Amino acid sequence: MKGLIIVGSAKIGSHTTALSQYLKGHFEEHEFEVEIFDLAENPIHQLDVSGASSPSETYKNNLSTLQSKAREADFFVLGTPNYHGSYSGILKNALDHLTMDDFKMKPVGLIGNSGGIVSSEPLSHLRLIVRTLLGIAVPTQIATHDTDYKKLDDGTLYLDNEEFQLRARLFVDQIISFVKNSPYEHLK
Ligand SMILES: Cc1cc2nc3c(=O)[nH]c(=O)nc-3n(C[C@H](O)[C@H](O)[C@H](O)COP(=O)(O)O)c2cc1C
Repeated sequence: MKGLIIVGSAKIGSHTTALSQYLKGHFEEHEFEVEIFDLAENPIHQLDVSGASSPSETYKNNLSTLQSKAREADFFVLGTPNYHGSYSGILKNALDHLTMDDFKMKPVGLIGNSGGIVSSEPLSHLRLIVRTLLGIAVPTQIATHDTDYKKLDDGTLYLDNEEFQLRARLFVDQIISFVKNSPYEHLK
């Protein structure tokens, strides 16, 4: 079983990426293969249905990688910073490049990080989007704050909050249970 974590922060080395790395480790303990697609490290062009713009080869290659990984994934985690009380435009643009065929009846976990007042609203907004993509947003979600992280000497962020470390385990267990016991397998 393969999972894809899409990180929608505009910052390389974001808190959301640190949380994603933490989750990836737990999925791997359960022998689930998980890849992180970090949109800050692998930017893609803005959706242009009319084809008037000319995206660079790098952007086009990044998009094609994202699209093929999404098609192959058995489940997703969508990660976002809190930008103006919602999920990031970067993540929305990535989702606009994907389709219902990528998400149909697949479990989707939602995670986010805020720098101001901690908020789960970005995740509530994402939950609606997942529904329209025909994905199944699992009930447990993770909304952290910058203060839940510490930095290694090289500046890499890591999750340093016991409550969220426990919640991360519950989150991973729940997604795995949805993937293994999906009553919707025949609808895919
Ligand atoms: C465009 C923009 C809008 C933001 N709006 C909010 C906000 O409404 N509420 C908040 O708590 N933090 C807001 N922030 C701060 C981010 O949530 C904060 O930088 C956080 O650390 C981002 O997480 P990340 O490291 O995973 O990207 C905003 C940041 C940016 C760049």
